[in-house]
Amino acid sequence: MARVNENYLKLPGSYLFSEIGRRVRDFSAQNPEAEIIRLGIGDVTLPIAPAIIEAMHKAVDEMGEKETFRGYAPDLGYDFLRNAIAENDYKSRGCDISADEIFVSDGAKCDCSNIQEIFSADSRIAVCDPVYPVYVDSNVMAGRCGEYDPEKQLWSNVIYMPCTAGNGFSPEFPKENPDLIYLCFPNNPTGATITRSRLQEWVDYANKTGAIILYDAAYEAYISQPDIPHSIYECDGARSCAIEFRSFSKNAGFTGVRLGFTVIPKELEADGVKVHPLWARRHGTKYNGAPYIIQRAGEAVYSEEGKKQLREQVSYYMNNAKCIYEGLRAAGYTVSGGENAPYIWLKTPDNMTSWEFFDYLLKRVNIVGTPGSGFGPSGEGYFRLTAFGTYENTVKAIERIKNMD
Ligand code: MLT
Repeated sequence: MARVNENYLKLPGSYLFSEIGRRVRDFSAQNPEAEIIRLGIGDVTLPIAPAIIEAMHKAVDEMGEKETFRGYAPDLGYDFLRNAIAENDYKSRGCDISADEIFVSDGAKCDCSNIQEIFSADSRIAVCDPVYPVYVDSNVMAGRCGEYDPEKQLWSNVIYMPCTAGNGFSPEFPKENPDLIYLCFPNNPTGATITRSRLQEWVDYANKTGAIILYDAAYEAYISQPDIPHSIYECDGARSCAIEFRSFSKNAGFTGVRLGFTVIPKELEADGVKVHPLWARRHGTKYNGAPYIIQRAGEAVYSEEGKKQLREQVSYYMNNAKCIYEGLRAAGYTVSGGENAPYIWLKTPDNMTSWEFFDYLLKRVNIVGTPGSGFGPSGEGYFRLTAFGTYENTVKAIERIKNMD
């Protein structure tokens, strides 16, 4: 008789952004006249930049000609893209990462949820609290998290590293030794950053304890200050303890196009076993490579025109971030993030819970945000707004919030 993976039955509720989508659809059905502004999920609104569209068109045409048609992509990605990534994202920042340490995929979300598969089933994970829910949920599905306590909203076998206003939303080293440590900077959801020297301490800690850091750098394009690292490989010793995930979604607007990559240095080992060949084996077995057209689009991200156009897109979103940050502060809210990240993290007013504030904003002023408690118990009493909306909607949303009584 077929039986399900019972770990799935342990997952509480639905995926955070699916739940938000459901509530917004219900509200919209009951209030069809409401002009809803969506600043919830971090989905981009600007169209794909012209240099990238041009590259895609060219690749589409190639696929229509016998001489230039391509079938399956190489397992780990086309060399033209892996070389462009190695050169632009790593060598240019002084990071020693070669093209064959880069695994091209269809996005960072899949990679950072799948990576746990190559580690032992009894690995203990450590996560920031609040945290991007994918890291925890994917480990729950794999049976690694123990039991869920709905009161405390905590899993019995997960090491939580609270990130609160008290520690500047920056995790402290855990008291117990984890095997896998998920870090994301600039942070989703708090928008907090980590300095190079603090990240170096994490790398030293991991090398000392034998842990592996799973570093999600999906938002690095939003860094504007010089002492904030774009990659964990800017730290000495990171090659022996860190895996890095990158996305084209937030820096190049590929949320609907899908492209990302994972970096695994060749010398990285888990208990004496090299990790790079295991991920290569998984990739080769379970994945047939991102489409040629999309990988050509990714290559254009690194062209001179592409870089210039994307800098403008990032500035556009960061101008939204500034508008939200300053507008909310002027309205008396306690806010953080938004300086080197496209997320603004605000304290809910009048001790409202995160979901109460979600409902309040939706009903009163038709604005959708993300409740902080959806990212973990330390997110309770907080709320996340994204800077990825249009400028017009962002301004309108802040005006509505300011005028709320
Ligand atoms: C978010 O809103 O946290 C992100 O857009 C989710 C994602 O990138 O998967």
